[in-house]
Amino acid sequence: MKALITIEEVTSMRNQWRRDLQSIALVPTMGALHDGHLSLIDEAKKYADKVIATIFVNPTQFGPNEDFAKYPRTLEDDMKALESRGVDAVFLPNAADIYPDDFQTMISNSKISLQLCGANRPGHFDGVLTVVMKLFQLTGANTACFGKKDYQQLKVIERMVKDLNLDIQIVGCELIRDSDGLALSSRNRYLSDEDRSTAKCLNEALKVVKQSYDSGVRSINELLAAGTKVLEGAPGAEVEYFEIRSQGNLADLSDCENLEVDSVVLVAAKVGETRLIDNIELSQ
Ligand code: PAJ
Repeated sequence: MKALITIEEVTSMRNQWRRDLQSIALVPTMGALHDGHLSLIDEAKKYADKVIATIFVNPTQFGPNEDFAKYPRTLEDDMKALESRGVDAVFLPNAADIYPDDFQTMISNSKISLQLCGANRPGHFDGVLTVVMKLFQLTGANTACFGKKDYQQLKVIERMVKDLNLDIQIVGCELIRDSDGLALSSRNRYLSDEDRSTAKCLNEALKVVKQSYDSGVRSINELLAAGTKVLEGAPGAEVEYFEIRSQGNLADLSDCENLEVDSVVLVAAKVGETRLIDNIELSQ
């Protein structure tokens, strides 16, 4: 596995792969890798000859009071995990190379970025889109894999690719959970034992909604009420949003009485100091 640090290193790798007619799949990450990230690598291999992962804790997607400084950095373990998963190259840029002093261009989209997580984390998706666009360019990827764990992020990126006619295929990959149902996340390591047992309520609330949906309930209010009861039973979780949106573009369905489109239940909550998100798809 090649470790690429500089812009020159990553672009010359890209150029060589292109010359050799090798297709390229990209898996962008912020490191502190877990099985959720590694499942994206397995998926990426199905789409291209070469897989390139990136590890970069992207400063522009963190708000001033967020956890940029304390975000877990576990480079040595990450490199071992990527190597054993058969990644061809990993790009580990320095922030000063991604955002030099005279950097002044950001990508943002409107509607879809301003709701849900975007409403609570102003500027977050601008930071994500900007770095993701740069990684698309630098790696020359034909395909990029993103997890459905960050459902809105996936949709925001799909929107950018469509709006800007980018020549890249986006693959949405299944959300991977721990054995107790908690969605795997680099931030789970912040949770105390007590937090962790509270955090399970997120998935439990989503599961209750799905069970109700699968048994034929289509009333949005009734579906959400079932999940709300579970969340209210866990006072340690401070819910930011708990909503049902369309799968396609996260359209607000709150004016519809009944669900008639494929949808997704999304939740964000703070447990202790840790902000967690989770979701589950409801398909017709
Ligand atoms: P990060 O949180 O490290 O996640 C990297 C990728 O792993 C994202 O596509 C995310 O959705 C996916 N992922 C995380 N947990 C997952 C899980 N439990 N199951 C499946 N996939 C999971 O998301 C980011 O980094 C950044 O915003 C990034 C896209 C790298 C831009 O900086």
